[in-house]
Amino acid sequence: EHDQDIKYLRDNLTVYPNFPKPGINFRDTFSLFRNQITYKKVIDLFSDHISKLEVDVIVGLESRGFILGGAICYNLGIPFVPIRKKGKLPGKVIEYKYELEYGQDVFEIQECSIKPNQKVVIVDDLIATGGSCMAAIELLKKVKAQIIECVILVELSDLNWKKNVSVPTTSFIKFD
Ligand code: PRP
Ligand code: ADE
Repeated sequence: EHDQDIKYLRDNLTVYPNFPKPGINFRDTFSLFRNQITYKKVIDLFSDHISKLEVDVIVGLESRGFILGGAICYNLGIPFVPIRKKGKLPGKVIEYKYELEYGQDVFEIQECSIKPNQKVVIVDDLIATGGSCMAAIELLKKVKAQIIECVILVELSDLNWKKNVSVPTTSFIKFD
């Protein structure tokens, strides 16, 4: 029932060739977030989908996953937990190093942020190699979360993320 909205979002997502490195087609999801009509369509898509999953917590990946996660949590009345780049979160943290399409990075989660067996979904704007999602999954396993799904706005299908990501994944907009 969201087919028209998904087509509209796909048509309005700006691509920047050769950013941040030669050969990368950068799909700039901020082009959808900075417009109130497309941003609302995006948040509604996520909220409708996640409301059917009966989850306890939404985990957003820095940084664009925060812009999605906060609004979805507000809509659904559930808590938001961040996974951040190394060195940003206080207290006891667990870290995991990962590769992404144009480099590598380290993600961290606060140990206290998830209770054992809590049902979580991971949200992010885009999946390319799946490195970021895989790192998030590994961190969430260590804090004993029950990972229900990864829910992603944009999927780059030809980057083979499926071999990295071991949990069910839903994406709304697909590019080769
Ligand atoms: C981008 C994007 C995803 C990740 C996807 O984030 O928002 O999180 O890359 O790539 P992958 O599937 O190959 O891991 P980036 O690391 O550029 O960080 P940012 O959101 O803080 O800009
Ligand atoms: N993150 C990883 N690859 C990306 C791409 N091609 N466009 C936007 N964000 C990305």
